[in-house]
Amino acid sequence: MDSPAARRAGNVLLIDLDAVVQNWRAVAARVAPAECAAVVKADAYGLGAVPVAKALWRAGARTFFVAELEAGVRLRAALPEARLVVLHGIPAGTEGDLADNGLIPVANTLGDLERWRAKAAALGRPLPVIGHIDTGMNRIGLEAAELDRLAADPAGLLRGLTVQAWMSHLACADHPDNPMTAAQLGRFRAALARLPTAPASLSNSAGIFHGRDYHFDLVRPGIALHGGNPTPWQDNPMRPVVRLLGRILQVRHVDAPMTVGYDATHRVQGPGTVVGFSIGYADGYPWAASGKGVARIEGYPAPVIGRVSMDLLTVDASAVPPEHLHEGGWVEVIGPWRSVDQVALEGGTISYEVLTRLGSRYHRVYLGSQ
Ligand SMILES: Cc1ncc(COP(=O)(O)O)c(C=O)c1O
Repeated sequence: MDSPAARRAGNVLLIDLDAVVQNWRAVAARVAPAECAAVVKADAYGLGAVPVAKALWRAGARTFFVAELEAGVRLRAALPEARLVVLHGIPAGTEGDLADNGLIPVANTLGDLERWRAKAAALGRPLPVIGHIDTGMNRIGLEAAELDRLAADPAGLLRGLTVQAWMSHLACADHPDNPMTAAQLGRFRAALARLPTAPASLSNSAGIFHGRDYHFDLVRPGIALHGGNPTPWQDNPMRPVVRLLGRILQVRHVDAPMTVGYDATHRVQGPGTVVGFSIGYADGYPWAASGKGVARIEGYPAPVIGRVSMDLLTVDASAVPPEHLHEGGWVEVIGPWRSVDQVALEGGTISYEVLTRLGSRYHRVYLGSQ
């Protein structure tokens, strides 16, 4: 943490790959005999798709989901034997790259299927595909009319394709009482009954916690592996994965009343101590979390005060013993005692956004087996 690279970067993001692996193992055990894939889109929720996926591959994960083709191509170079699934379909012109890299595209429309059939015919070999049936998200996925056409002529519309799975995606799984989840389960089952038999996949992280009915043959957890709470209605059953440490730039002793930061929103009455350190909203720390939450310095609580600046944050360090306060020291902003979910709550957002916006300026240190 005190390497030249860490000093140049200022802030340090610690990513615990063993915790990611333990989270995957916990979910895999919960859903067995269903297969537990790993959703590593958006660069593994901001934590680094290649190191995360490699650690999970070594732990036994075999199927990985990314969003876009480019992410699939990059992951293919790191994991030559993995089953890599690209969620964003088969846009015209991408068929060659998908096939050449051995990627499994998710067909979200009949147009996707048509392009993939044409590619299979041109190559003269079957191509794998996952069909995405929309059961109520109304975002992407085969619509009801498209499902009707597919169910009426599966042999024709799937000619030259091997269906690796039928999938759907839950819209409200993190709200346990929302009837939408059970309704989607019913629609998914009804759709499966009309289609050629293939493995099925419905659940994201939260869906997995709704019980066996939701597991089918393959589950697709993302946030749970990366340490976010997949069950917001109860304590987080997953292990925390990230710790974020900001470098102290200045320790300032306050004797008289004064305000701190932009817009002078916070007033320190004095006597007290204000610490400025080098994390800001440009590093993904939510501006909306200004003046909220409690950081830690050497284990002592230090409430966040004032506005979040672009690359600076301030805490009230009055309760921290002076011997622990020095320039170049650390303020711990996210860690086991202040979760990603907590920071998200304080910033009026969700853990997914906090994780995926973790800045590119952090010096990243991967802990655990790589
Ligand atoms: C289709 C699909 N499956 C699975 C996931 C993983 O979701 P979560 O991170 O909630 O587990 C996502 C992420 O949004 C997704 O889009």
